[in-house]
Amino acid sequence: MRIDIQFLPVPPDPLALSRKTAVVIDVLRATSVIVHAISRGALEVVPVETVEEAFEEVKDFPQGSTLLGGERGSKKIEGFDLGNSPREYTAEKVRGKRLILTTTNGTKAFHSVSSGREVIAGSFFNISAMTQFCLDRNQNVLIYPSGDGGRFSLEDTVCGGMLIDRMIKTEGDAIALTDAAYSAHILYQRFEANLIGAFYASIHGKDLVAKGFEADLVYCAQVDIIDIVPTFRDGVIRSR
Ligand code: MLT
Repeated sequence: MRIDIQFLPVPPDPLALSRKTAVVIDVLRATSVIVHAISRGALEVVPVETVEEAFEEVKDFPQGSTLLGGERGSKKIEGFDLGNSPREYTAEKVRGKRLILTTTNGTKAFHSVSSGREVIAGSFFNISAMTQFCLDRNQNVLIYPSGDGGRFSLEDTVCGGMLIDRMIKTEGDAIALTDAAYSAHILYQRFEANLIGAFYASIHGKDLVAKGFEADLVYCAQVDIIDIVPTFRDGVIRSR
């Protein structure tokens, strides 16, 4: 099994991707929100690219059944029910609801890799569950950090590096790494004893702290608190 990681969120070749598991990572905070919301009983998450699309999409569903969530500039969008802090997505708020989510980078990333044989949402919350998922599928893996406005994102790459680390530790020589995956693994090892250090060192992490969301950094740095693997298929993310 070969693992690759993209350092920049440029849509990959759909044909090559159709034989791989694609792992979308936006650990601060879109995929952490998705994993958290589904673990708290949200029926499904519909990731959309624009705020306008979100307002259009919600009209298709009975009132009260669907919540609008997400951010622009990291802040809750006017007229939306929820922002982009995983801590907001409690069972009380999301159980039994459909969630339409739009974020700056993360929700877009799912559409960029939609041709993947499997497309899953990854975060530190569900690292063991997604490791097992990738190993069970036994097909090549592309880790797709959603980046920061098209740029490299340290925190997503460190999370991808942790997935690589777990896969190597479980399967040893059966795992082949591209040069990018090898490098992401080294980057992870730099922050292994202090994952939150990667958040504080990153541009996006610093921006979230400046905007008053430091508690989200602490929350999103928790490892293995959730045992599900949300899967994106036909435009919708559900627990598999
Ligand atoms: C994104 O999708 O870009 C992020 O989740 C942004 C954020 O949470 O501030």
